[in-house]
Amino acid sequence: MQFPKLSQLQSRFAVSLGGTILLLLIYLSLSKPSFAYAAELEVRTQSGYDYPILLDDLWTNEEYSEPGEGDEQDVGIWIKRAPEGVSSLPNNAPQNMNIESGVTQNWMFAKEDIEGPHGVKGVGLPSDVTVTGNMSDDGVRMELKRQSSTSIWITVNTCLQPALEDTNAIPQQLQLYYSTSPDIDKPGTGTGGIQVEFEGGYGIIELEVDNDVYVGISAPNTSDFSGLWNYEIAASNDAPYHYWSNETDLLFVDGDNHAALLVTPDLDNASSNVFQDWMSLSPAPYGMFAHDQKNLSIKGVSRSYCGLLHNAKLTANIPEISNNNVGTMTSRGIGGAPKEQFYISALNASSSYYGWLAMSGNSTAHGAGVIGGGGRVWSNVTFRTKASDNCALMYNLTFCSEVAYAVPSNPERYSPLDGLPDLAAVYDSYASQMYQYFNYSLQQIPCNTTASAQYSLARNCDHCASAYKQWLCAVTIPRCEDWDNNEDYLQPRNVAANFTNGTIPAWVLNPSSQDQILLNSVQSNSSRNAQIIDSVIEPGPYKEVLPCIDLCYDLVQSCPAALGFGCPQGKYQNQSYQVRDPDSGVLRCSYLGAAYYLNDGHEAKDSMMGNRMGWMSLLITVLVLVF
Ligand SMILES: *[C@@H]1O[C@H](CO)[C@@H](O)[C@H](O)[C@H]1NC(C)=O
Ligand SMILES: *[C@@H]1O[C@H](CO)[C@@H](O)[C@H](O)[C@H]1NC(C)=O
Ligand SMILES: *[C@@H]1O[C@H](CO)[C@@H](O)[C@H](O)[C@H]1NC(C)=O
Ligand SMILES: *[C@@H]1O[C@H](CO)[C@@H](O)[C@H](O)[C@H]1NC(C)=O
Ligand SMILES: *[C@@H]1O[C@H](CO)[C@@H](O)[C@H](O)[C@H]1NC(C)=O
Ligand SMILES: *[C@@H]1O[C@H](CO)[C@@H](O)[C@H](O)[C@H]1NC(C)=O
Ligand SMILES: *[C@@H]1O[C@H](CO)[C@@H](O)[C@H](O)[C@H]1NC(C)=O
Ligand SMILES: *[C@@H]1O[C@H](CO)[C@@H](O)[C@H](O)[C@H]1NC(C)=O
Ligand SMILES: *[C@@H]1O[C@H](CO)[C@@H](O)[C@H](O)[C@H]1NC(C)=O
Ligand SMILES: *[C@@H]1O[C@H](CO)[C@@H](O)[C@H](O)[C@H]1NC(C)=O
Ligand SMILES: *[C@@H]1O[C@H](CO)[C@@H](O)[C@H](O)[C@H]1NC(C)=O
Ligand SMILES: *[C@@H]1O[C@H](CO)[C@@H](O)[C@H](O)[C@H]1NC(C)=O
Repeated sequence: MQFPKLSQLQSRFAVSLGGTILLLLIYLSLSKPSFAYAAELEVRTQSGYDYPILLDDLWTNEEYSEPGEGDEQDVGIWIKRAPEGVSSLPNNAPQNMNIESGVTQNWMFAKEDIEGPHGVKGVGLPSDVTVTGNMSDDGVRMELKRQSSTSIWITVNTCLQPALEDTNAIPQQLQLYYSTSPDIDKPGTGTGGIQVEFEGGYGIIELEVDNDVYVGISAPNTSDFSGLWNYEIAASNDAPYHYWSNETDLLFVDGDNHAALLVTPDLDNASSNVFQDWMSLSPAPYGMFAHDQKNLSIKGVSRSYCGLLHNAKLTANIPEISNNNVGTMTSRGIGGAPKEQFYISALNASSSYYGWLAMSGNSTAHGAGVIGGGGRVWSNVTFRTKASDNCALMYNLTFCSEVAYAVPSNPERYSPLDGLPDLAAVYDSYASQMYQYFNYSLQQIPCNTTASAQYSLARNCDHCASAYKQWLCAVTIPRCEDWDNNEDYLQPRNVAANFTNGTIPAWVLNPSSQDQILLNSVQSNSSRNAQIIDSVIEPGPYKEVLPCIDLCYDLVQSCPAALGFGCPQGKYQNQSYQVRDPDSGVLRCSYLGAAYYLNDGHEAKDSMMGNRMGWMSLLITVLVLVF
């Protein structure tokens, strides 16, 4: 090595005291200093969580080593390397800066750092994640490259942007330039260099290089907005320090009027030998951000982990921020694969939100010295909360463990704050009681006999038991929708009841002829399981997303004929079940493990199987069989 002392400096990722002072001097000469301003840049991201961004943060960061003997000499060499007014970017060590309108700041990833030691790769996640963005191979570029060249990534995250008081207006994006020619050692607006895309507060430069790389960040000229931009820039010869994926990789499961449940896609499969490794990850690897869609200013930083960290109103499982929202591993849903779920509360009713899947650093560590330590963000999904307070989002049940959706509730009896476990227990114990009856009758069937004595070669009693449980949970625990949601696939229920606040509905006091039909029909003036829902819970009027008819077909096909199951047909079917519509992206019917845009769509045909009273008679059939 030509510069042994330099590499010693590098190996500690150190911004030494000397370097600090120098950087400060460079910065002071580069732009009008705005420390007072910076000190006021306090952002409140979450109640009780104040996050001041100060330039000083960088220099008091404990992760940087204390200056030691001989550093002055190191700095002597270092000074000669970077042109005046250009700051050095060490490997995997983010630099945070404020920048004022109209100013350009220059950085350099020096040859010695580019060719310097790589960061230490961690153990990674249990398996190469199938979540898109090909996360496992960020560090490996398969392109043919020149022998002497090195792959490098320089990434920028906008953390704060100027604002226009109480408006949704957002300023233009920062501009990012680079140059590999010493002739243009200060690229920027007006001074040349190659401009790269900078969107949503994120820019990435990916290069194969064998020499110094010069970078410029220019803040656009604007007089309308007040405040500064603040950004984080980092260079790496390992992988992008900051990462953004154009995929969404987050699915909205369901919500009520104040909470929402979202899940990642499957992270592996149920039979994987690292299934347990996934399930035991604690804390879970991903987090998420969410933000009110009415506030458009988030668009300016929506691809930036740092930007979302400091601007998004809602977070779950983001280690830098503590709150009551959770991210936990679960294997609920079709296929039983491991995935992560997020429960976000403190949302407003009838509101639309953006949600972003995210990862803090590499999921177990973040910040300087960590490969990918700047965090990851995926593209947004949108979701909406319900209006009424008589649908309550429920998940994490003991018996009906696959249930994760809003159910009819009564906020006066089951407080949204602490009454949900009681509500869950009402539904769950009822379902498990019904299952017991079924189990008794199943035991009368010759299940565990030789193949020739079995009722079917393709299905056995375990299939029957599993199909019954799926069906039972879906029909005993109805999926609830807002009363004023007028989608045609929804079934009005319990229409004759008073609202939970005691008010008598207008259509009961003064019914139109249309209302009269609803009020007189058993299907709409009561609930499924009226004995618990209408008498114990008393949710008032609500609408139901009917169970998918294929749950019933599956039950009939999986169970011995002796059990006498049948599915309703015609009008009765339409009032008890719905058919899946896999292409619409709309969840027209309820099945366990359902998530929006995840209808796996084995669409059921309208079949003529059936008996008159639908699901009720199925239960009766079972009861008759038992008693
Ligand atoms: C994250 O980085 C740290 C430090 O480099 C490393 O020890 C850890 O194993 C990494 N985590 C993962 C999941 O790769
Ligand atoms: C991920 O990248 C590796 C190496 O570049 C490639 O072989 C693999 O097919 C990619 N996987 C996906 C899902 O794109
Ligand atoms: C939008 O959100 C940002 C960041 O949370 C906040 O500073 C700003 O005041 C909000 N704008 C409006 C119009 O509410
Ligand atoms: C801002 O305006 C000044 C003067 O008109 C110009 O020199 C400078 O290049 C502009 N900067 C940007 C980032 O557009
Ligand atoms: C994301 O980018 C890749 C590569 O540019 C492209 O093939 C893919 O279609 C994009 N995905 C989305 C959802 O835009
Ligand atoms: C499950 O994943 C493992 C690797 O993690 C793979 O070997 C196996 O074939 C997969 N099984 C199925 C059913 O997809
Ligand atoms: C959300 O994603 C859509 C589609 O990718 C994009 O057009 C929109 O700008 C994004 N919104 C935000 C706030 O990032
Ligand atoms: C709820 O609405 C209020 C008033 O519009 C707003 O100040 C608050 O930020 C919103 N909260 C969320 C989580 O959207
Ligand atoms: C799920 O329920 C169990 C007990 O039934 C509880 O220990 C756990 O904390 C719950 N998890 C969540 C995410 O609510
Ligand atoms: C069949 O036998 C197996 C093993 O003896 C047992 O686990 C299973 O519960 C039995 N199935 C039924 C329906 O009795
Ligand atoms: C609705 O409330 C009124 C009084 O507020 C009561 O008389 C009536 O019985 C209630 N109706 C039902 C269906 O409970
Ligand atoms: C009672 O609840 C209903 C439905 O949520 C609502 O329309 C009505 O305004 C409420 N009445 C009172 C007095 O709060």
